[in-house]
Amino acid sequence: MMTRQNVRLAIIGMGDMGGGHARGFNAIDGCELVAIAEPREERYTAHQIDWRNDRAPAVYTNHRELLKREKVDACIVAVPDLLHREVAEAALDAGCDLLLEKPVSTTLEDADAIIRHAKERNRLLQIGLVYRYSTLYRAMAKYGSEPGHGVRLMWCKELRQCFPQRDWFHAQEQTGGTLVEKDCHHFDIFNWVIGSDPIRVFATGGQHVWKSGSLIDCSYCPDEPRVIDKINTVDHAVVAVEYENGARASLILCMYLRPENVMPEGLEIGGIAESGRQFCAYQDQRLGIGGIGEPFHFLDLDMISDNEGMGHIGCQAQRRDFLDCVRERKEPFANGRIGRDSLLVALAAERSIEEGRPIELSELSPCLR
Ligand SMILES: NC(=O)c1ccc[n+]([C@@H]2O[C@H](COP(=O)([O-])OP(=O)(O)OC[C@H]3O[C@@H](n4cnc5c(N)ncnc54)[C@H](O)[C@@H]3O)[C@@H](O)[C@H]2O)c1
Repeated sequence: MMTRQNVRLAIIGMGDMGGGHARGFNAIDGCELVAIAEPREERYTAHQIDWRNDRAPAVYTNHRELLKREKVDACIVAVPDLLHREVAEAALDAGCDLLLEKPVSTTLEDADAIIRHAKERNRLLQIGLVYRYSTLYRAMAKYGSEPGHGVRLMWCKELRQCFPQRDWFHAQEQTGGTLVEKDCHHFDIFNWVIGSDPIRVFATGGQHVWKSGSLIDCSYCPDEPRVIDKINTVDHAVVAVEYENGARASLILCMYLRPENVMPEGLEIGGIAESGRQFCAYQDQRLGIGGIGEPFHFLDLDMISDNEGMGHIGCQAQRRDFLDCVRERKEPFANGRIGRDSLLVALAAERSIEEGRPIELSELSPCLR
């Protein structure tokens, strides 16, 4: 087992997410960020980070060069989705454990290849499904799984602004689609809280606002607003998911609120159990519960400090847990299989929109279902 001081890390892809990981790991004792690969210098320099002990990581423009020259225990992969397989396999071949950003990949074939690759090389694979590490959604999953309270219905209202003004987010072939890139998180929460296998997906969606040639101006993207020449992804969708145990879940997605969701509930994810128990999370900040004689009330839990002031809820808990897995050779909680399950639902939803019919998940994944 490694000592607490020596997990040597590299980050591949220093865009918005890679920069967040750099800042986050830089703040954690017991690891050292030794190298970064990022082909675009301006993306790397955009992140102004006070490196611990004044030891800035070595910077490479090419991940293969980094993997050849540096001895690292683990890599954090935060490149655009279409590159996940190529970069993940190269890092696994170099003997690294992986924290691979979500979605695992843009296709099931690539996801299976990455999972197989990690297994064959006996390396750990954790997927960046950050909600899995948050106090809030852990509490929701706990309430969901209590005996006698089987969750039968869930919903998610994800009504938000556009993706960043970067080409790859808007190209179906680069991400697998909006429902893959964005909502693999939410399908994972459904899978987790319901605790059964998804079997069928029906979805409808399209483009109301964002079309090729639209001016994209995402408020949290540091880039200037830009016209995106090719947009072939949906900007809204309604998705229904059926589970083996009879539970059902639905997601409504809108990507064109301007400037953002100003409605009081914000992102809303809720559920109803067959016992009559009701629960609902708002804005990733508050979780309420009630029903069966109990008034609806918000849980008195600290739902936000698991990010240690660094961004998304659960993000630092996710990083600390990854380091523990690397040291203790533990299977990550958000492992490859969990990432694949959420990808499966998202890909089925994309196919359902394209073909205008319900999709049996066994059609996409005959070997595992
Ligand atoms: N877990 C989450 O909540 C969350 C949030 C946002 C993004 N993400 C995921 O993180 C990944 C990156 O997203 P982002 O928003 O940072 O995108 P981004 O476009 O800001 O950053 C991607 C970076 O990767 C770099 N890159 C491209 N090819 C590379 C290579 N071969 N080697 C090294 N770097 C390379 C690009 O130059 C760019 O700077 C995506 O998979 C995305 O889905 C996850």
